[in-house]
Amino acid sequence: MQELTIRQPDDWHLHLRDGDMLACVLPDTARRFGRAIVMPNLKPPVRTTADASAYRERILAVRPAGSCFEPLMTLYLTDNTQPDEILRAQASGFVHAVKYYPAGATTHSDAGLTDIVRGDNVFAAMQDCGMPLLIHGEVTDPAVDVFDREAVFIQRHLIPLMQRFPRLRIVLEHITTRQAVEFITHGPENLAATITPHHLLYNRNALFRGGLRPHHYCLPVLKREEHRQALVLAATSGNPRFFLGTDSAPHPRQDKESACGCAGIYSAHAAVELYAEAFESAGALDRLEDFASRFGAEFYRLPLNRNELTLVRQPRSVPDIWPDERGPLVPLRAGELLQWQIRD
Ligand code: NCD
Ligand code: ZN
Repeated sequence: MQELTIRQPDDWHLHLRDGDMLACVLPDTARRFGRAIVMPNLKPPVRTTADASAYRERILAVRPAGSCFEPLMTLYLTDNTQPDEILRAQASGFVHAVKYYPAGATTHSDAGLTDIVRGDNVFAAMQDCGMPLLIHGEVTDPAVDVFDREAVFIQRHLIPLMQRFPRLRIVLEHITTRQAVEFITHGPENLAATITPHHLLYNRNALFRGGLRPHHYCLPVLKREEHRQALVLAATSGNPRFFLGTDSAPHPRQDKESACGCAGIYSAHAAVELYAEAFESAGALDRLEDFASRFGAEFYRLPLNRNELTLVRQPRSVPDIWPDERGPLVPLRAGELLQWQIRD
């Protein structure tokens, strides 16, 4: 196949940041996606509907001319979030989910919940109004091996949460393990998961290929090959509870190439192209459209996009620095080839 036209996709997990970085990265997403669920882990976090409204305006202010890209906003759950904030969010029409970070689990998560049960009043309100809870599913217990933190989170926190709130709509974000795939596959209809392009294409060897590779470092960290294969099977299975979420997470180059480098991989410059590679390798390009453009919208109870996006099978090389030689970022695949391109 040399060309593939699909319904325009949406990105159900994205970091757009703020200020200059926002202006730098937004065109990449707006060129490919109709909508994106925008993560609230700014400094300070997006805690209220009023914060989300202001952030949304800042995004729309730098949206490229002619673009119809729609940011779908989220709130950041803290120990102080009150149930009435959920009602305001629901009534706003532009807040589509609430994000739970265990405090200390990842980049800018220090304002997250210190104990998941502290969110119970808020979870009850979300369950009642149908607002999805997006979960960064890793335990922060330093005694747990970093490669096991997702699997332990499911057992220790997610299963009890689902027992306390059986009707709560949950997205386990950026899953990385066979255990998560099995849990979602056998879980109820109100439980779904997003899968990133990097977890479909790379295993943990990528972190150490010929030396330490900070631009392949993200959280949850890349796992063994057997887990990557389980993710590919899930993404290409046609199960509507697995859908696209890039977790594209830009950091300035110097913050990644540092003695304590930040977690986060920038992939928005090639997001759909990378998913196409992963699906093509699995012989499942015909399943890409549902994963990228249907299942997420259905879970979020939003209409499907009406536009189309065309991918052309034509290799292109990715620059070392993004978006140009003065750019702040090192993109995924820097200095290497992509197999697909977007046709304008
Ligand atoms: C994200 C970021 O940089 O904001 N980093 C990452 O490695 N994925 C935070 C997150 O989603 O965990
Ligand atoms: Zn993320």
